[in-house]
Amino acid sequence: MDLQAAMQPGVDSVGVIGSGTMGSGIAHVFARAGYSVVLCDVSADALERARKSIGANLSREVKKQKLTEAEAEAALARITCTTERTLLGKVRLAVEAATERFELKRKIFEELDALLPANAILASNTSSISITRLAAVTGRPERVIGMHFFNPVPVMTLVEIIRGLQTAPETYQAVESIARALGKTPVEVNDAPGFVSNRVLMPLINEAAFAVMEGVATAEAVDQVFQLGMAHPMGPLTLADFIGLDVCVDILRVLQEGYGDPKYRPCPLLVRMVDAGWLGRKSGRGFYRYPAEGAPPRAGR
Ligand code: 3HC
Repeated sequence: MDLQAAMQPGVDSVGVIGSGTMGSGIAHVFARAGYSVVLCDVSADALERARKSIGANLSREVKKQKLTEAEAEAALARITCTTERTLLGKVRLAVEAATERFELKRKIFEELDALLPANAILASNTSSISITRLAAVTGRPERVIGMHFFNPVPVMTLVEIIRGLQTAPETYQAVESIARALGKTPVEVNDAPGFVSNRVLMPLINEAAFAVMEGVATAEAVDQVFQLGMAHPMGPLTLADFIGLDVCVDILRVLQEGYGDPKYRPCPLLVRMVDAGWLGRKSGRGFYRYPAEGAPPRAGR
């Protein structure tokens, strides 16, 4: 069947599994492009927070005159937030955006495989886990693919599309055209730990953490070097706080295990900060402190 024709905005619905920062951003961009979205999570509280944050981000786009009030309202109305996975039974594409743990994703993929129509595509927004391994737990490995979005999803234009070893060319083409329908630019990457984005970004963040741990420079100085010297919009440690230090450590461990190379070992400072619950922006403290929503970060761990 023609998968490309099967996924038209306004005709078909999409499932998003996981309503954290990435899942809600993904639901936002699909709804904004005209797709109906079933946003699924095990936590009703997380879904409530997701609906609020999507609403706030759509309003931000209204203020910037990227959307009209009516378009924003219609987009929000296209999102069904639910803890009931069976509502995913009719979607033609599911994008999994759960926590970065293989065992959790495996369970979700097995469940989606059993629930979704046989011709539906199962995509993962994993930032580093093997698409080939996830595909292998399903009965439709040729319809499994990586669709890696970037935070903040409504703003960042890249979608890294990852082909697993088994991914069919039609699946790739369908997902590529869906990414374009979302207003994103797809970039094709083959399956390897961390793909391109995190294979290159995480060692930068890790090395920046080592520089701080070893007293080479403060976090602010490291960040200034990259902002002022390399025109990065955020220095690597501000970015690490933005991504979540726990997410960074999880990805580094996937790289270390996947390549068997100790160069990817997470910096002990990062690990200690995660152990302390200093996860970055989301917990109010990481390399910087985030005293209140919207307030500028204060220096100092
Ligand atoms: N939803 C909608 N719009 C948003 C938004 C959101 N969540 N967040 C920001 N925006 C919009 C703002 O309204 C603003 O719009 P404008 O250009 O029309 O004025 C624009 O984005 C810029 O935002 P701000 O003016 O508030 O703030 P900044 O200029 O400081 O930009 C930033 C914020 C876009 C986050 C910028 O600092 C940036 O690009 N940082 C780097 C982000 C990055 O590297 N992300 C990738 C992380 S890695 C990842 O996600 C992969 C994973 O696997 C780890």
